[in-house]
Amino acid sequence: MKNTALEKIQPYDKATSEFCSAVLSGLRRTPRAIPPKYFYDETGSHLFDAICNSPEYYPTRTELQILGSIAPEIAEITGPGAVIIEPGCGSAEKVRILLDRLSPSAYVGMDISGKYLKGVINKLSKAYPTLTVKGLCSDFIRPVNILDIPLGDRLIFFPGSTIGNFEPTDAVNFLKQMARLARSGGRLLIGVDLKKDPAVLNAAYNDSEGFTAAFNMNLLARMNNELDANFRISQFKHSAFYNEQSGRVEMHLVSQSEQVVQIDNTHFGFSRNDTIHTENSYKYSIKEFQTLARLGDFEPDKVWTDPDDLFSLHLLNVA
Ligand SMILES: C[S@@+](CC[C@H](N)C(=O)[O-])C[C@H]1O[C@@H](n2cnc3c(N)ncnc32)[C@H](O)[C@@H]1O
Repeated sequence: MKNTALEKIQPYDKATSEFCSAVLSGLRRTPRAIPPKYFYDETGSHLFDAICNSPEYYPTRTELQILGSIAPEIAEITGPGAVIIEPGCGSAEKVRILLDRLSPSAYVGMDISGKYLKGVINKLSKAYPTLTVKGLCSDFIRPVNILDIPLGDRLIFFPGSTIGNFEPTDAVNFLKQMARLARSGGRLLIGVDLKKDPAVLNAAYNDSEGFTAAFNMNLLARMNNELDANFRISQFKHSAFYNEQSGRVEMHLVSQSEQVVQIDNTHFGFSRNDTIHTENSYKYSIKEFQTLARLGDFEPDKVWTDPDDLFSLHLLNVA
C-alpha cells in the first residue's frame, strides 16, 4: 500500500466565484447571513485550531477523551481493513486515535480549505507511511465520488460537532448523503455537542484570548482580500451567544457605526448594531440527535458521552 493523493489536492476550483455570489446574496437578504464554510481559508483553519486549544473550548478535549476511551470498542465493531472517510477533517488530529487502533486500509480526508488540507495530508502520510492516505479538497454538501480506494467497509468520521452548523433540515439531507457515501454495511461515527448550561456555551464561543473573535473577524479580511471588498475591520465586533429558544449558539459580526461597504460594485449600508449572521451551532440532546439520524437514513447503534455530559459521540449504521 502507498500514499498517493498529495499532488491531487487542488484549491476548490469554483471557490472565488461561489464565495462572491454567496456573499452578495447573503448581504442582500434580511437578516444578513454568510454561510460558515467561508470562515475556512488557510488563516481561518489555523485560527480554528487555536480555538480548539483554548481552555474555554471544551468540545475538542472532551471529544478526544471520549474517542480515546471508546477506540478499542470501535476497533472491535469495525474490524481491520475499514476505509475511514472524514469530511471537514481540519487538522485530522482526532482521527489519529482511530488510525492507531483500527488497522484501516485507507484514510480519505476532505476539506474545503485546500492549502491547509495539503499540509495536513502531507503530515499524516509521513506519520502513517504504510496506509493509503488521500486528501480531497471539496465542499462536503456536494455528492463526491472517491476513486482509487480499497473496497473495505466504510466508516465516515464526522467529529467536531460540525453537524451543528447545519440547519436541522439541512443536517438531515447531509446525513442522507453520508449514508450514500458510507454504502450498505457502512457506519458513521459523529460528534455532537450536547445542550448544557448557557454560561458554559457563552464562554466557549467568547474565549478570553480572542481566538473565536479573530476567527469570526477573519471573514471580513477574507472578503477584503479575495473579493476586493472595503470592510473597515475595526468598525465591526464579534458577538456570540446561546439562543435558548432555538437551541443554538449564534455568531454575528456587529457594525459599530453607520457605514457603507462596497463589494463587486454593490454598496451595502449598515446602521450601528446591524449584524451579519455568520454561524449557528445547534446543540442536541441524545434523543433529538437520534431522531435526526433516523430521518437521515441511519439507525443509531451506540452513543457515548463524557462524565459531565458535555459532548456525545454516536455510532450509526446505514439503515
Ligand atoms: C468545526 S471544524 C471541525 C474540524 C475537525 N473535524 C475537528 O473535529 O476538529 C469544521 C471543518 O470543516 C471544514 N468545512 C466546513 N464547511 C465545509 C464544507 N462545506 N465542505 C468541506 N469542508 C468544510 C472546515 O474547513 C473545517 O476544517
